[in-house]
Amino acid sequence: MIALVTGAYRGLGLETVKQLAEQKYTVVLTGRNTDKGESAASEFRDQGLDVYFHRLDVNDQFEINELHDYMLEKFGVLDVLVNNAGIHYDTGHDVTNPNWNIVQEAVETNFIGAWKLTVAMLPLIKKSATGRIVNVSSGAGSLQDMSPGTPAYSTSKAAMNVLTIQLAEALKPEGIKVNSVCPGWVRTDMGGQAAPRSVEEGATGIVWAATLNQNGPTGGFFRDGKPIAW
Ligand SMILES: NC(=O)c1ccc[n+]([C@@H]2O[C@H](COP(=O)([O-])OP(=O)(O)OC[C@H]3O[C@@H](n4cnc5c(N)ncnc54)[C@H](OP(=O)(O)O)[C@@H]3O)[C@@H](O)[C@H]2O)c1
Repeated sequence: MIALVTGAYRGLGLETVKQLAEQKYTVVLTGRNTDKGESAASEFRDQGLDVYFHRLDVNDQFEINELHDYMLEKFGVLDVLVNNAGIHYDTGHDVTNPNWNIVQEAVETNFIGAWKLTVAMLPLIKKSATGRIVNVSSGAGSLQDMSPGTPAYSTSKAAMNVLTIQLAEALKPEGIKVNSVCPGWVRTDMGGQAAPRSVEEGATGIVWAATLNQNGPTGGFFRDGKPIAW
């Protein structure tokens, strides 16, 4: 089984790669810094895990196309896509005083980047008998809990959730399951050290959605494998 994780040489992405590889997935660890990515993948291989690095800035269509060609040539199929790359938890702002550069970057990375990569990978995911797409979202994007704060981050994650619902509907006939997952508040560079959850705890819910069996849900929003409000 072949999996691909974006933004994966640190934080939740790195832990997701580890947990999938421990379940015997071959994992392509992607990220925009080649040195960090190569070194993370080679550490995993030293532990006997089947992990390869490929460069990917999710905002770069040329790199998306290159990654597609690499996956096609090396594996010919993609079973699991984890759209994990994320940026800009903009706590210093609210909806009345946004920083437009941050808004633009957040929307491009958290929403449009995930969308572009998914569309590029769809031909390979359709070749899988058990295609799974996980959009790593956030409770900050939940419409029900929406506050005026973190405007770039919250709007980009709410948009990502729309992508999940639309993709899940579009891909239902082919048995491809698409879900949004909130990992909870996790101790990473983004979450900070005050967060209550470890990366292991946060990534478990992502891996749950990535490894759903045929009876598993699609088009939902989950934390720790349990539905949460859109
Ligand atoms: N931590 C939390 O409490 C929490 C809560 C809810 C949701 N999440 C979500 O979980 C996901 C992972 O977050 P994290 O906490 O692990 O954050 P993190 O430690 O800051 O890691 C974010 C990752 O995304 C990558 N990235 C950013 N822009 C990218 C781009 N254009 N192309 C490719 N990779 C890019 C970063 O790579 P660089 O090193 O190149 O910047 C890094 O590897 C995010 O989607 C985040 O929104 C986190």
